[in-house]
Amino acid sequence: MTDAAPTPWLTVIGLGEDGLDGLSIAARAALDAADWLVGARRLLDKVPPGHAQRIVWAGLDGTLDAIGAARGSRVVVVASGNPMWFGVGATLARHFDPREILTYPAPSAFSLACSRMGWSMQEAVAVSAHALPLESIARHLYPGRRLVVLSRDGETPAGIAAFLSERGFGPSRMSVFEAMGGSRERRIDGVAANWWQPEVDPLNTVAVEVLAAPNARIYGVTPGLPDDAFIHDGLLTKREIRAVTLSTLAPRPGETLWDVGAGNGSIAVEWLRANPSGRAIAIERDPHRAEVIRINANRLGAPSVEIVEGEVPEVLDTLPGDPDVIFIGGGLTSGDTLEICWERLPSGGRLVVNVVALESAAQLIAFQKRYGGTLTQLAIARNAPVGAMTKFDPMAPVIQYAGVKA
Ligand SMILES: C[S@@+](CC[C@H](N)C(=O)[O-])C[C@H]1O[C@@H](n2cnc3c(N)ncnc32)[C@H](O)[C@@H]1O
Repeated sequence: MTDAAPTPWLTVIGLGEDGLDGLSIAARAALDAADWLVGARRLLDKVPPGHAQRIVWAGLDGTLDAIGAARGSRVVVVASGNPMWFGVGATLARHFDPREILTYPAPSAFSLACSRMGWSMQEAVAVSAHALPLESIARHLYPGRRLVVLSRDGETPAGIAAFLSERGFGPSRMSVFEAMGGSRERRIDGVAANWWQPEVDPLNTVAVEVLAAPNARIYGVTPGLPDDAFIHDGLLTKREIRAVTLSTLAPRPGETLWDVGAGNGSIAVEWLRANPSGRAIAIERDPHRAEVIRINANRLGAPSVEIVEGEVPEVLDTLPGDPDVIFIGGGLTSGDTLEICWERLPSGGRLVVNVVALESAAQLIAFQKRYGGTLTQLAIARNAPVGAMTKFDPMAPVIQYAGVKA
């Protein structure tokens, strides 16, 4: 027997800058019938006073509780644009049964900006500098790419222009759209390298057509960035080994990686570049390297890397939640690190370990005998001059362990 579908009592209405004028008849009727009206002050101000009691959105938990307490009466939440796109719609649908919710979306800032630019939406990439640091755009810096960037505030366009210019993408064309869809709408066009407006209206969206200067570094989309893409002090998983390691780690959407002994952060950064909906926690004891991880993460479009400073294995006890995948990038100095990491993995979790030292390799061999998994030797040699001729310079071979917890 299936449960009867719950009756919707919560209505989410997307408002554009044109306020009630842009609403469908059905959305307008729902708004007029509301007992409770919930939303950010800016949006509530667009609704003329009526009989509904108002709750100004202030903090997630408190507001969700207030909405829950009004269950049974007609509650309307007003949100901006399409509430299901970087909006409260999805938050509400996670908290309440989605079948209790009716949503009336308005066009999103993404759809409005694409319309203004004459871009097809499926070819443009949406990036939120509202939810994440604007450095996230670094993952999308390919000539010809079209980006629609949601701004955090009035200084975001200048920040984007500066970031693009610093990274060699100063020729990129930028169009800033302020308060789209309303009477205050204004468009500002320019080129990143010559951007002149330090501040615009806080409600703005930026369309960027990425164009590269000759000095721009343009990276491939697959893992294995060049070593010099990272700032590092030599403690770096080298490009070829890194590419194989990312393939072994095999990131899946939403998964959490612990990069144990993260060094300069190259594995955590590449994990997130390949898997932006995932999480990467970089664990590093050296405070200077922890700072470098932050710089690398920002430069390479993975600003959501979480950095934990501390000594392995002790610091692992302080980490909340379980990882899906653990990478140990070398330096298996403490005898119990392997066991502790294995212990923290849920069943089905994956462990990948790279070592160079034979003592560490011995630990891996014993571990593999006990728990199964595979051992692979990765031996790379790069060309180097020998007098006028060329030879191969072998790097120290890396022993890679890969295991899945039963
Ligand atoms: C939290 S997001 C909400 C997006 C919304 N759900 C939508 O569909 O547009 C807020 C960001 O959207 C952008 N935005 C929303 N409405 C806009 C408008 N009318 N004009 C320009 N930008 C807008 C701004 O970049 C703002 O910082």
